[in-house]
This record gives sequence, C-alpha cells and structure tokens, in this order.
Amino acid sequence: MKVSHLLRAIVVVASTIFGLEISTRADSSLVGYLGVFFLGDAPNIYFYLSNGNNAIFFKALKSGQPILVPTLGTAGVRDPSIINGAGSEAGKKWYIIGTDLNIAKTTWDASQRKGSLSIYVWESTDLINWGTERLIKVENDNAGMVWAPDAIWDSVKGQYLVHWASKFVSQADSNPTLRIDVSYKYSTSDPNHTGNPGPDQIRYAYTSDFKTFTSPQTFINAAPTSIIDLSLLQLGTNSYARFLKNETATNVYMERSDTGLFGTWTRPGGVSAMIHSGVEGPYAYADNLVAGKVNLLLDYYGSDGYRPFTSTNMNANAWVDADRANFPTGLRHGSVIGVTQAEYDALKAKWGT
Ligand SMILES: *[C@@H]1O[C@H](CO)[C@@H](O)[C@H](O)[C@H]1NC(C)=O
Ligand SMILES: *[C@@H]1O[C@H](CO)[C@@H](O)[C@H](O)[C@H]1NC(C)=O
Repeated sequence: MKVSHLLRAIVVVASTIFGLEISTRADSSLVGYLGVFFLGDAPNIYFYLSNGNNAIFFKALKSGQPILVPTLGTAGVRDPSIINGAGSEAGKKWYIIGTDLNIAKTTWDASQRKGSLSIYVWESTDLINWGTERLIKVENDNAGMVWAPDAIWDSVKGQYLVHWASKFVSQADSNPTLRIDVSYKYSTSDPNHTGNPGPDQIRYAYTSDFKTFTSPQTFINAAPTSIIDLSLLQLGTNSYARFLKNETATNVYMERSDTGLFGTWTRPGGVSAMIHSGVEGPYAYADNLVAGKVNLLLDYYGSDGYRPFTSTNMNANAWVDADRANFPTGLRHGSVIGVTQAEYDALKAKWGT
C-alpha cells in the first residue's frame, strides 16, 4: 500500500468515526469534470468537458451538437442528471436520467396536470456508448407529472434513491366527491385531472438497475409551498446537503442533515435563508482539487442559464459568485461528475475538437 493510500484510508476511517466531511474531500484520481445539460431551446442532451481540472471552465463536446436525442415519449428531455454507478457498479456504469417534457408540444398548465409519469434512462459502461433510451414509468396515475429526476446512492439501503417533483390535486380545490380522494391525489373519476393542481412535492423510489423501481412515496412535502428541483450532495457518512427551489417564491435554498437522508434537515443560514432568487435547477458537486470546497450551479432561467457559485463552509449559507469568464452561457438544469484521466481522455478522443 502506498503511503498516500494508507493516509487516505486513515482519513476515511477517522471521518467515519468522527463524522467529518468525507465526500467533499479532494480526490487525486479525478482530473476533470463532465457536465451534462440541456439548452434552453433544445430539449436534448449536451456534454461539456472541463478545461483541465477546473470546475468552472467548460467547453462543449461534439462542437456543441447534441450527444443524446430522445425519440420515445414527448421526444424532448429536460433536466438531465448523470449518475455515477455505485456499490457493485462503481466505476463500471453510468446512468443519465431526465424529464420527459417537450414544452414546444404542450403548455405549462397541461404538462403539470397530465404530463409524463415516466423518466428517460440512458446507461453506459464507458461514458462514450449510451445506446438508446428507455422510458420508465415511476409515478402513479393520480399524479400530474414527473419533473427533474435525480438520484443518489443510499449506502444504508444499498440502492439508488431516485427523486423527482410531482403535483397532485389541490386541497383547496376540494370537491371530494368528484375530484379528489382522501389523500389529495387525483381521483379515478377525474382521469383528465380537471381539478386544479396543488403544490409540487418531492417524491422518491428506490432502484438497483434503473429498470424496476419501488412504488413512489413522498420524500419532502412543504405545502403550501411548491418545491421542485431537489439536488443532494453527500458530505459525510450521515451528512448531506440538499438544495431545492421554492417554486412559490422562485428562489433556491440549502438545508443540511447530519442524521441521514431521512433525518432532520435545517437551514444553516436560518429558517428563511435562501441562496438566490430568480433561479432554479440547483446542482452541487464536490471540488476535485480543494478539500471541503463545493461548486454550485444555479439556473437563471429567465436570463443566461447556469452561473457558478462556490462555498467552503457547508455549515453556513456562504455562497460566493464564481468567475464566469470561462463558464458557457445558456446551459440549463443539468449535472456534473468528476472524471479520471482515462475517462477524460476517452471523452476528448470521441467528441473533442
Ligand atoms: C377525458 O378527455 C377525453 C378527451 O378530451 C374525453 O373524450 C373524455 O370523455 C374525458 N373523460 C372524462 C371522464 O371526462
Ligand atoms: C417559500 O416562499 C414563500 C414566499 O416567500 C414563503 O412564504 C415560504 O415559507 C417559503 N417556503 C419554504 C419551504 O421556504
């Protein structure tokens, strides 16, 4: 065992025992980042590769042409998230999941009452070959839609926890005999979901293969506030940060749990702390080079799309604007992973210029 490996093993063991932040440590095996996004007017998937090991300096792959173009469902994908294989799939499998929504073919109202209840799934064993997508239904018929699916490996469960936002019928729009059942889901007697939608909530299911999923359940319900676009970042064995869009106020806020994914969540900056308003689609990723540093992308959806922010203190609401000089404009709600030298070289050889 090399000394550096021994030191790392000691740090991991110590971190586990003392609950220190482990996954936000720098990782010398990662030499760059792969970003996976959709663009405002193009519901396809675009890849961006970092320039060296710079977390906020990205260049388009394939000269900015789409890498994945869905044909199933609405034939439009939004909010793509790339998921590192974990457990027995670590380093061997990657998944990209996304919202089945081509807004050019529908309206925002219709897409939240009778939108797709499925997610797109692509999978790869090398980050290069992705095959064709599959469309998997994850939500019940009494929901209005499935938006912004993302996933995190739950090591306690040994499965991927997949989450998304759904709307159900409004409690205020209550004609119980006609439109809603007792749990405020759309009733089978209202198959066209004419009852007004209620607030968005975050739903979840577990999967081992992104083919079969457990029945959906509610993960976070902040009613009467509408919440969407959950992004989770593991900070330590039982510690996580989560980022959400308050769809009612149209701002993004962060919460932290040191008691696991289903533990107690509080806002480091106080109960009404938020990071920015007029943004959505938060995505947080650990820095490859600087231990404890987190990069955060916020989608200025009414303007130029993603802008980068950073923090070195996840116990505070302490986000600072990052340098945008080399961050492309127009990138919308997506995701970023760290890549090894072999992965970086393969991506560049396949789609680089
Ligand atoms: C639902 O909408 C379809 C298409 O407009 C219509 O044919 C059907 O009768 C509606 N169902 C109900 C129960 O209203
Ligand atoms: C969302 O924003 C509204 C309006 O500012 C506020 O009243 C509500 O408490 C917020 N909800 C959450 C979960 O932050």
